[in-house]
Amino acid sequence: MADLTIVPRHHHLAIQAGDLESSVAWYRDFFGAEEKWTLEEFSELTASRLPGIRRLVEVLVGDVRFHLFDRDGCGAESPPTQARQFQHLCMAVESPGELREMRRRWIELRASGRYRFALPDGPTDIVTDADGAQSFYAHDVNGLEFEFTYVPGAR
Ligand SMILES: [Fe+2]
Repeated sequence: MADLTIVPRHHHLAIQAGDLESSVAWYRDFFGAEEKWTLEEFSELTASRLPGIRRLVEVLVGDVRFHLFDRDGCGAESPPTQARQFQHLCMAVESPGELREMRRRWIELRASGRYRFALPDGPTDIVTDADGAQSFYAHDVNGLEFEFTYVPGAR
């Protein structure tokens, strides 16, 4: 019988980057991500799962690890919107003010011209649902969607 006491916890999210340098810079500047380690030699299993993998960088945002990596032959084009995929990642902030600040920072970094964005889209407006939760959506430099949310009373 299965052991139902096993509860796996989240460890990291791996992101296939179009431009690794630009991605690491953007995660650092937008999220304040800390670069933890980098890897350039991979196991046979990794090489067979991800042919052409060149370099992987772990960055840490609070307690969320992102594994940013690039592969030969994977360019800057964004994934097709109809593809079956992990569709978005939601990150929560502590206040409506922090939510506005995240959106402002996204726009400021985009306008700086320092990063290569896969998509032309800007962030959505901040919307408030019936429970008072606020959120907006924006893409990272790779065209992957994030949601940013403030949920009153949530921890
Ligand atoms: Fe969501």
